[in-house]
Amino acid sequence: MSVPMRKLVSFLFALLIGMSGAAAASGGADVRLPPAPVNRLDEESLQRGARNFVNYCLTCHTAKYMRYNRLTDLGLSEAQIVDNLMFASDKIGETMTVAMTQANGKAWFGAPPPDLSVESRIRGRDWLYNYLLGFYRDEKSATGWNNLVFPNVGMPHVLWELSGINKLVETEYEDHEQATAGAIAVKGLSAIEPLQGHKYAVLQVAPDVPGSMSRVEYESFVADLVNYMDYMAEPVKNKRIHLGILVLLFLGVLFVFAYALKREYWKDLH
Ligand code: HEC
Repeated sequence: MSVPMRKLVSFLFALLIGMSGAAAASGGADVRLPPAPVNRLDEESLQRGARNFVNYCLTCHTAKYMRYNRLTDLGLSEAQIVDNLMFASDKIGETMTVAMTQANGKAWFGAPPPDLSVESRIRGRDWLYNYLLGFYRDEKSATGWNNLVFPNVGMPHVLWELSGINKLVETEYEDHEQATAGAIAVKGLSAIEPLQGHKYAVLQVAPDVPGSMSRVEYESFVADLVNYMDYMAEPVKNKRIHLGILVLLFLGVLFVFAYALKREYWKDLH
């Protein structure tokens, strides 16, 4: 490697380490995100997720790169889309936009609600899933809500009537090892936060006031929603998966013939 090249590489490396350090520091807590139980080939889950998304998220957010008529890919007819999913618009070829302006969003919530078209590629499925499970009541915040995955987020907990109200529960441990064991024992979303005097706290959200859905129902509501957001961020991925399966089947069949041909050739040579 030449000297300038080596310098460049070590610079990039230092930058990377710096960035990851900053990312860890900005959160303060070390958050454990259990995997999102989603399956992007499950068409019914995607349909439910699309319904949840337009009903509960499009009031503030946009999905500028998603056209309503693309939802026909999920097995919905145009009539079903118009009747059940289109509240914010009336033309099937239109994208998912919203009446709220960026300026209003910023004035109302402190930060404008970002476009969610490719949010799943930015944050990842697991992050999104746990973000929607991570809201808890916090009297000190402007919206009355806070979030374990995204501390001090400007978004209120818009699904609270379904999920019910959660509270933050903090358990103190003597050292990091015990705290890690405590966080694993939570089995769901948790975070480890350093305290003074080398102690650590494990944070988790726990139900306080029940909502209209049970815990299991709410988790599957959120899983459908995240499944849809993941599909929306990359709709053609499903086609790629199906094509991949076809290619493998084709290669399998080809192998059978190739093998039969080989046997046929070698038969005469033995
Ligand atoms: C009442 C308006 C409102 C509704 C409804 C709403 N959000 Fe938000 N959302 C916001 C605001 C405001 C922010 C920006 C918060 C910030 O940056 O502090 C935000 C931020 C987010 C973020 C984080 C974006 C990022 O990466 O920084 C995600 C993810 C998100 N919303 C998802 C959703 C989903 C999913 C729904 C539907 C269940 C939804 N939101 C409904 C107002 C809303």
